[in-house]
Amino acid sequence: MRIVVSAGPEEAGEAAARLVLQRLSVSSGRVLGVATGSSPGPLYRALAASVRAGADLSDVRGFALDEYIGLPREHPQSYHSIVERDVAMPLGLRPEAILVPEGQAPDPTSAAAAYEAAIAAAGGIDVQILGIGTNGHIGFNEPGSPRGSRTRMVRLEESTRRANSRFFRSLDDVPTLAITQGVSTILEARSIVLIASGEAKASAVRRSVQGATTEDMPASLLQGHRDVTLFLDPAAASLLDRVPAKA
Ligand code: F6R
Repeated sequence: MRIVVSAGPEEAGEAAARLVLQRLSVSSGRVLGVATGSSPGPLYRALAASVRAGADLSDVRGFALDEYIGLPREHPQSYHSIVERDVAMPLGLRPEAILVPEGQAPDPTSAAAAYEAAIAAAGGIDVQILGIGTNGHIGFNEPGSPRGSRTRMVRLEESTRRANSRFFRSLDDVPTLAITQGVSTILEARSIVLIASGEAKASAVRRSVQGATTEDMPASLLQGHRDVTLFLDPAAASLLDRVPAKA
């Protein structure tokens, strides 16, 4: 795992965007794995600035990590809506260029299998962008998710629902179920970029980087991947034993 600590969240996003562009530039198919949530906002803004400055991402295709079950696609907090609004539009991609798991499918198991098949048909994911939950989740793979898990329906932990309730009117409005890429699906990405900022993430970052590799801390399973880079602000890096030089 490489760790890059920047002066703040915006700078971490800019540093992460540079690596994403570099990794995409050496790939012929150009497939991006897309996280939602607050953490990757600065990264998407930096990518959008690169596009405005002339970078051409128009052939990039993407796959979102996850989607709530039970929210209509048009709901402003569905990941379909967020990916279109915060990723596809700013990067100049057609909305259809980024697939999102079908949270409204009558049969989530078949929808999950179809999603895996679509990723495989695209040639796999070149760069997977990740955030991290305060409980160490990646995607919506909560603690205890098997190392070999693939895209599937999952139940969200109460702590995850509480954390995400900031985007909803009340906790009751936050869905309890989701479809998420599995741990194994994520680990198959050729390159992984995890972005985290703020003190609330410091403990999960420490346990993921310096703790044991365990399904109880899903992000620690990234230690077994050969191309993972964590982009942190000083607060998220504050509990690491050795803080690398600033980038
Ligand atoms: C989002 C996702 C989650 C978030 C994590 C952190 O698609 O899969 O794993 O990355 O919950 O969320 P934020 O960035 O909002 O703190």
